[in-house]
Amino acid sequence: MILLKNKDELKALRASNRIVAETLQELKNHISPGITTKELDVIAENYIRKNKGKPAFKGYRGYPATLCISINEEVVHGIPGPRTLKEGDIVSIDVGVFRGGFYGDAAVTVAVGRVSPEAESLMKATEESLYKGIDKIRPGNRLADVSRAVQAHVEANGFSVVRDFVGHGIGRNLHEDPQVPNFFSPSTFNPRLKEGMVLALEPMVNQGSYKVEVLEDGWTAVTKDGKLSAHYEHSIAVTDNGPWILSLTGDE
Ligand code: MF3
Ligand code: CO
Repeated sequence: MILLKNKDELKALRASNRIVAETLQELKNHISPGITTKELDVIAENYIRKNKGKPAFKGYRGYPATLCISINEEVVHGIPGPRTLKEGDIVSIDVGVFRGGFYGDAAVTVAVGRVSPEAESLMKATEESLYKGIDKIRPGNRLADVSRAVQAHVEANGFSVVRDFVGHGIGRNLHEDPQVPNFFSPSTFNPRLKEGMVLALEPMVNQGSYKVEVLEDGWTAVTKDGKLSAHYEHSIAVTDNGPWILSLTGDE
C-alpha cells in the first residue's frame, strides 16, 4: 500500500532529507587519500546527532554503521572500517537519517583525487540517469516511466543497471511501497504517480555486467566481474508542480 503524505508530513521529510544532504556535503569536504571509511562514518554520525537526528541504517536488519561506503567494484552496502581511500578510487556514500518521525535517504559517488576517464564517465552517466528518472516523477506518469528513463540513459552510455537492488517509497519507514526499480519489467507493480507520494530513486550502475554478489560479511554487494559500479540517490516528493527533490542542501 502506498502511503500519501500531506503538507506537514512533507515538511518533516524535507527536514530529515536536508540533514542527509548536509551530511553528504560535509563528507565531501573530508574525502581525500588516506582517510579511513570508519573516520568518515564517525564524521557523519556526529553531524547527524548534532542536528537532532539518528543514523537510520544503524541497527536496520543488524547493519552496524551510519554510512554505507562502497569503493570501486563495490556496488552498495559496504561497511565502514580501517580501509583507507586511495587516489583514483570512486567512493559511493549512502546516508539515512531519522528525525521527527520521518526518514531521509540519499547517496552520491565521489572521486578521490584524479580518476580514470572510464570512472568519470560511469559516474556522470549514473548521476544523469538519476535526473532523467526524476524528470518523470510527476502526477499522471506511471512508475515504469521513471524506471525506463533511468535504464534508457544508462544503456545508451554502454553501462548496465543492477537488478538485485531497487529504490523504494520512504516516509515513516525507511522502506515503503512501492519498490522503485531502475529497469523496466512488464511484471512489476506499475502504479500511476500521485501528489503526496515520496520515492527514493537510486540507480546502481555497473561498468560491465549487471550481475552482483554479496560478500561473506553478509552486506557488501560487489560486481561479479570486478568492474566499477556507481550509485546516486535522492528522495523525491511527487507534487502538482513536478518533482520536489527533498535531499538537497539549501532553503527551498
Ligand atoms: N539507501 C539504501 C536503501 O535504501 C541503504 C540501506 S542500508 C541498510 O536500502 F543498512 F539500511 F540496509
Ligand atoms: Co535508499
